[in-house]
Amino acid sequence: MPSRPYIVGNWKMNGTRAMLTEARAVGRVAARYPGVAVALAPPFTLIHAMAENVQDIAVGAQDCHVAASGAHTGDVSAPMIWDAGARFTIVGHSERRAKGGLGHGEDDATVRAKAEAALAAELSVIVCVGETEAERDAGKAEKIVASQLAGSLPPLESIGTRLSVAYEPVWAIGTGRVPSVEDVGAMHRAIRERLLEIYGEEGRGVRILYGGSVNAGNAGELLAADEVGGALVGGASLTADSFGAIIYAAQLLLESRRG
Ligand code: 13P
Repeated sequence: MPSRPYIVGNWKMNGTRAMLTEARAVGRVAARYPGVAVALAPPFTLIHAMAENVQDIAVGAQDCHVAASGAHTGDVSAPMIWDAGARFTIVGHSERRAKGGLGHGEDDATVRAKAEAALAAELSVIVCVGETEAERDAGKAEKIVASQLAGSLPPLESIGTRLSVAYEPVWAIGTGRVPSVEDVGAMHRAIRERLLEIYGEEGRGVRILYGGSVNAGNAGELLAADEVGGALVGGASLTADSFGAIIYAAQLLLESRRG
């Protein structure tokens, strides 16, 4: 974990204005632990209110369109997200990559175009990757993630210090199941190697987050795994109590490393 762990809450399709009280309470926890970078990605509808009303956390979006504006009914562009007060966006979440059901069937090229659109609008970006359970069982997890990285990451010229990668095994999202700490470390080391191949030395500065059933009980050991620079948290980010406990776990780890 680098010196300033990044703990990001993804509210997914949850939250109305009543939940801003939770966000404010998260801000109060974040203010106590300035060594931990804290962020929340609420639905589009809450970005502006959260950015205006909550201190000490970064506010971001969960997706953006590839175009800056135009005839795309129902979509929201990166410059609009910035204008609403967001300073980062997630792209390529597995719930958007999913082909069946209510997924959006986004492929690597689309994810890369979204990441480029976000960076062009001055937003930071978190690009998500991760294998399905069948892919892991077939021994293909690292291969799948490597190919997602090769296809989804934006070009070196655009990234500056604004790119993070989130490793979210699809089978661990919302299931209460997490990979072993060894498996998390092995995948994060593999991702670092790919980043170095793709970006050269600049790849060392890209933060790699773990996501998938992170909670107060497992955050400490997951954050301590090799090359884990933070966490992308779904369900446990919806209350200040549970998200605050994860922020605190990051703080404890920082203190233990400082000795
Ligand atoms: P859960 O923490 O609910 O498993 O969700 C993880 C996730 O998808 C964050 O983007």
